[in-house]
Amino acid sequence: MSLSVASAVSLSTLQGDSLSPALGSSALSYSGLSSSSLSTTALRLPGRRLGNGLVVSAAKETDLLTGIVFQPFEEMKKEELAIPIAPQLSLARQFYEDECEAAINEQINVEYTVSYVYHAMYAYFDRDNIALKGLAKFYKESSEEEREHAEKLMKYQNIRGGRVKLYSILTPPSEFDHAEKGDALNSMELALSLEKLTNEKLLQLHSVAVRKNDPQLADFVESEYLTEQVEAIKKIAEYVAQLRMVGKGHGVWHFDQMLLHEGDAA
Ligand SMILES: [Fe+2]
Ligand SMILES: [Fe+2]
Repeated sequence: MSLSVASAVSLSTLQGDSLSPALGSSALSYSGLSSSSLSTTALRLPGRRLGNGLVVSAAKETDLLTGIVFQPFEEMKKEELAIPIAPQLSLARQFYEDECEAAINEQINVEYTVSYVYHAMYAYFDRDNIALKGLAKFYKESSEEEREHAEKLMKYQNIRGGRVKLYSILTPPSEFDHAEKGDALNSMELALSLEKLTNEKLLQLHSVAVRKNDPQLADFVESEYLTEQVEAIKKIAEYVAQLRMVGKGHGVWHFDQMLLHEGDAA
């Protein structure tokens, strides 16, 4: 929507000169409305003297809003504002494209898939013969967090009047050991890749919102997901770096203890 300067906007200098004939000849216009029709309706802002400054002020009240009056009951007759009758249709849905709805459902599946992999890692590190309780705790919490991400998207889908569709989730691996890296580093590198992939998917969701001109969805993704996602990537990248330092065996034990007691009261 374009907005240009109103014809009736007039500015006066201290000397009382009109600042700009150009201003006087242009009109306050929204796209779709002619300048001529608006020329009679624009706000009139005559200047007046005050000290040494240029002052713009509202004109006499009788000059205000002589033509444009918000006509809600006229505008509400528009077809797109009609309230659906069919019971299977959302009453709240407005300016929510099918492509945005589908992209949200895909992201729900991404979050659930990551949650499932983390849950498998939890089960692996919680085994009696593995017994890395800190990693088990970390992956359990991570799994729950991803499920919360999925649920927040489900809630959003309902807010916008979309339909949540849950798709199949791929079976995750159940073994995470690796001959050279060991299981702790191997799992953490996998976690880092998963978080980067999630970030890529979130950015794709955001680009759908932008392309379909849905600023509300774009804002939701930015404020609720993108910052947290890059922070998660940074944290897990640090864990990978630390696990590469400590090697296998005793070093991993200390790393695991650190995770186990993270968040404990000092
Ligand atoms: Fe997530
Ligand atoms: Fe995550």
